[in-house]
Amino acid sequence: MNNEKKQLVLLGVTGSIAAYKACELVRLYQKAGLDVKVIMTKHAQKLVGAATFRALTGHAVATELFDDPGAAIHHISLAEEADVFVIAPCSANVLNKIAHGIADDLLTTTALATTAPFICAPAMNVAMLKNPLTHESLKVLDHAGVTIVGPGEGYLACGSEDSGRMSSPEEICAATLRVLARTTDLAGKRVLITTGPTREFLDPVRFISSPSSGKTGFALAREAKARGAEVVLVSGPTELQSPLGVEYVPVVSAQEMLEAARAHFDSADIAIFAAAVADYRFAEQLEEKFKKGAGLPALELTENPDILATLVARRNATNEKKPFVVGFAAETENILANAEAKLKAKGADLIIANDVSDLKIGFASEHNRVCFVTQGSREQTELMSKEQLATVILDYILKKL
Ligand code: PMT
Repeated sequence: MNNEKKQLVLLGVTGSIAAYKACELVRLYQKAGLDVKVIMTKHAQKLVGAATFRALTGHAVATELFDDPGAAIHHISLAEEADVFVIAPCSANVLNKIAHGIADDLLTTTALATTAPFICAPAMNVAMLKNPLTHESLKVLDHAGVTIVGPGEGYLACGSEDSGRMSSPEEICAATLRVLARTTDLAGKRVLITTGPTREFLDPVRFISSPSSGKTGFALAREAKARGAEVVLVSGPTELQSPLGVEYVPVVSAQEMLEAARAHFDSADIAIFAAAVADYRFAEQLEEKFKKGAGLPALELTENPDILATLVARRNATNEKKPFVVGFAAETENILANAEAKLKAKGADLIIANDVSDLKIGFASEHNRVCFVTQGSREQTELMSKEQLATVILDYILKKL
């Protein structure tokens, strides 16, 4: 008989119609060799019976702050026991409450008390999801290091096809396994990441830029930090909240990004250039807004510095072996041939090629599929979330160090 203690998932189920899918999630966790205990909110119990989870998990289902006579402080004992804490589905109500530290029932009190890795899979009506208050709460949780899985798009309980649908139990289970498998294999390493777009202003109100959201670089920063690295994240303007525990350097233009990256490049062990830098800027930047009606402006462009190539040249000039330099190649045609040309021209150790003509991946999407291109090798990944991709990229880099 195998007496090894199983890792424990503490699963919070809230009052969303997706609560029934949490039963399937329990099964997936068990198949993965995990033990599961469930906390249900009052509203969740209107949708699925506590007896179902009791039968599935073999453990009493916790529903009340003071319902375990054996434990002096129930929420603390549950919080301490958990190897990972997952709320799936997480309703708008619970999500907004935990983002603001409100702890008025067993689930939200446990959420505030736990020090275990925390995963949240939101599920709600699209209007609730798009409400600026929910949007802010998601940013707060993300900033606090909570892993947010989804929500995805699809058929919602209110009858519409839109975003707000809970991610599939398979996706949530995979995210949980990733979090549990995290090691501190990047401890002692410094990682520099550039991300987001740059803005090259013509006048105070007009600029050249790209649709980069910064999601790729932020996911890499969070993952590297979680694996023990010291992380510097140099980011162009984005909507995203800077990750907790990461040195965050906001910049606007390519020139500013170069200066910020230069300041941290020499001390880095790994430098990842995920930013979509504008290759050109206006030769002249106007101090006042260019007035319509003054005829068509004669716009002259000039080339921006190539940040990656400039810094690699500096590394090579000093015969330094570090940092290991990773560039991305955003391509719309001849993806791999162009990526190989960039590998050579820019001198990177690795180029991560992605097809940005496909709107479901690349710029601003939640997912991506990439090809790792090094001298003499190509390795294609599956389509996956940018969080999952961050894990795969760091694993790949570590193999090459
Ligand atoms: O931010 P997201 O919405 O998540 O989108 C992710 C992404 C599509 C932006 C990302 O996956 C990506 O492809 N990033 C690189 C975008 C890009 O500008 O690629 P490029 O092929 O033009 O540049 C090649 C490499 O040189 C990149 O590493 C780039 O950061 C770097 N570069 C480019 C120009 C420049 N002046 N300086 C640079 O350092």
